[in-house]
Amino acid sequence: MKVKGFVGGVRKGAKFVGAVLVLAAVVGAAYAFWPRHYPRAYLASTAALQSDGTLAPLARAIGFHIGAAVDITELREFEATAQRDFNSMTPCDALKWGNLLVGGKLGQYDFRQGDELVNLARSKQVRIRGHTLLWGRFPGAGHPSDLKEVVNAAKQPKAKLEQLMTEHIRAVLEHFRGRIDQWDVVNEPMHLWKPLWDDNVFYRTLGPDFVAMAFRTAHAADPSLHLVLNEQFGGYDNERAEKFFEIVQEFVRKGVPIHGIGLQSHTLTSVPELAPLKAYVRRLESLGLFVEITELDARVRLFADSPDPYRAQGEYFRAVSSICLEEPACTGLTVWGISDRYTWMSKFAPFKWMQPLDPLLFDLSMRRKPAYYGVAEALRSARATRHGDANHDRR
Ligand code: G3I
Repeated sequence: MKVKGFVGGVRKGAKFVGAVLVLAAVVGAAYAFWPRHYPRAYLASTAALQSDGTLAPLARAIGFHIGAAVDITELREFEATAQRDFNSMTPCDALKWGNLLVGGKLGQYDFRQGDELVNLARSKQVRIRGHTLLWGRFPGAGHPSDLKEVVNAAKQPKAKLEQLMTEHIRAVLEHFRGRIDQWDVVNEPMHLWKPLWDDNVFYRTLGPDFVAMAFRTAHAADPSLHLVLNEQFGGYDNERAEKFFEIVQEFVRKGVPIHGIGLQSHTLTSVPELAPLKAYVRRLESLGLFVEITELDARVRLFADSPDPYRAQGEYFRAVSSICLEEPACTGLTVWGISDRYTWMSKFAPFKWMQPLDPLLFDLSMRRKPAYYGVAEALRSARATRHGDANHDRR
């Protein structure tokens, strides 16, 4: 009888604990995902700020590139901001391997979207960052959706993948020859958060050397290009950042033609300490590489502890921009989108449930936010120390 009572008690206790855990999860999710509304105090002061200089002339004056990722749906916003606010642009999707193919599968190229974006940027004398020749994620976009199947079905998978990669890199660089002079050759070679390689079709088939092959093929196809290895970091003083640095250091030692490193700088889960970023840029420069901040954005909810989150976000953009501008090796800074209306985060869980995102320089109505003025302030401050011509990128 006692045993029965004990078991019954345990069952009741377990049910209670279970209920508490479920309740805690629901409250936690509600807290994390409940839409917030922050005061847009900047709207009151915008008129006063509008008189300040715009970003592109400030950047050009010091030989720096300030850029934005542009989606094919944002041509109007790009037309309005080219050479006023941005002297560089990155097609955020159009030039990816899968997106360049009819149906996202190996076979026929369709360069029309890429040409539309690239030709528009060139008509505005805006520099273009090509993004990206190889990416192990997003089959159908980052690479052909049937790449893995075709490679694994081949008698010699390594030779097959090498052939497909080489043909792709040569075809794309030939098509855009003379119009794009800086390319992300490989995007995100690392595991999302572990100090490991990303276990994608390229790494799994060819090992780490797929990176060297890609860069050597791109350099041989067009030696005038500035070739970049592009990666996202949650922080710069951790094992994963150290592993990436060691990988790059080894490629440089072996003479792989890597010219620059792209630090994507998506600010997604927390506002990072910035001192490690400065140190990391200097370490990369010590390898003879240039650096670009290639995909900066920062969710406004990460600044919710501030009485004015949009102003705190602006201070963060100023600080990141200043770190880049204080380092001669850092030749450009690109934000990943023009207006908050078109941020990639609104397409991807869990971020799309964490409204407002508002991670960029222009708000939903294309009004300049404190983040815009933070970048402007950093560019003005750099005038005393940086000189150069934005039309001649560093290697
Ligand atoms: O164009 C189609 C549309 O026709 C279809 O109805 C819709 C619904 O599926 O999808 C649309 O394509 C989407 C595409 O963006 C264009 O908006 C894809 O699904 C979506 O996966 C794709 O997301 C892009 C993502 O990379 C994957 O390629 C984002 O726009 C882009 O901002 C994002 O950018 C990446 C960088 O390349 C690398 N670093 C991280 C960064 C953010 O994820």
